[in-house]
Amino acid sequence: MKVLITGGLGFIGVNFTKFFLGKYKEDEVVVLDKITYAANRRILDEFKHFSNFKFYKGDIANLEFLEKVFRKEKFDYVVNFAAETSVDKSFLDEATFFKSNVLGVINLASLSLKYNVKRFHQVSTDEIYGDLPLDSKKKFSENDPFNPKNPYALSKAQAEEFLFMYHKVHGLNMTISRSTNNFGRYQASDKLIPLVINRALNNMEIPVFGDGNNIRDWFFVLDHCKAIDLIIKKGKNGEAYNVSSHEPHQNLELIKFILQKLRKKESLIRFVEARKIHDRKYAVDTSKIENELGYRHDYDFEYALDLTIEYYRGK
Ligand SMILES: NC(=O)c1ccc[n+]([C@@H]2O[C@H](COP(=O)([O-])OP(=O)(O)OC[C@H]3O[C@@H](n4cnc5c(N)ncnc54)[C@H](O)[C@@H]3O)[C@@H](O)[C@H]2O)c1
Repeated sequence: MKVLITGGLGFIGVNFTKFFLGKYKEDEVVVLDKITYAANRRILDEFKHFSNFKFYKGDIANLEFLEKVFRKEKFDYVVNFAAETSVDKSFLDEATFFKSNVLGVINLASLSLKYNVKRFHQVSTDEIYGDLPLDSKKKFSENDPFNPKNPYALSKAQAEEFLFMYHKVHGLNMTISRSTNNFGRYQASDKLIPLVINRALNNMEIPVFGDGNNIRDWFFVLDHCKAIDLIIKKGKNGEAYNVSSHEPHQNLELIKFILQKLRKKESLIRFVEARKIHDRKYAVDTSKIENELGYRHDYDFEYALDLTIEYYRGK
């Protein structure tokens, strides 16, 4: 079996590629990545020791380049992690987000159909549902409507709409996973958990938007990789699955917990004005993947956070 992992040098993509190379030693793994600021290019030194690994530098928005790769490699599976992912950046450069996150997916889907890929998997986000009031008990199910609140989330929602249409009209074999916020090794340093760890270790101020009471549901990246693998293998064609291990934490509470683990003072925290649109709370119902595919997460939240802290401490 040959798998294409697009965005395989990004945070989740690197974790998935390592997971995949470790679990499926007989399979051929091709990573394609544009190498933006978010890419871990040094990981290629590690990956190149695997004889079943190959790398292409390139842009999924470039159809001509992408078609050459598809024609040559004849993939069985395509897993798409490639995307622009910073919500803050998405307000400043919408065009780049729509090029990578929507046009890129259109290209991958059309080539997957043309070159008979067995399964195209799109890694999506719970941000497509929009946010919830802080005191809400609701959890979004896969049937809830899309209500994205920022250009990043809108681009991910539009990519999904395209895939559902392509599945219905042309019969593209595809699945989608909608994950909550990930944490773990190899994440870019502008994201909350690495930012807090790195700044605290260097005794630098830690900015907190607003009063810090926004809630994010944290999911360890290796549990996410396991869920994606399960959906690719056993997920129903044309279906989307919410994925999470249900660890909702207020940003301020989480930051204080990390500071405590690093034995750093809370006086490092500095409250800054919240951005204009700052989603309050995300929560998803994961009973579909649990009941239909038997998914269970492996990692305890605090243990996974300790692993993550150790990684950034060693960098
Ligand atoms: N990180 C999270 O908490 C989270 C949660 C839910 C869903 N997701 C989704 O998971 C996927 C991966 O997220 P991440 O956090 O690893 O992102 P990331 O920003 O760390 O990595 C993205 C990778 O994609 C590459 N890339 C960007 N545009 C590309 C293009 N046009 N062509 C080829 N490569 C391109 C980048 O170079 C980078 O290596 C994204 O699709 C994101 O929407 C992430």
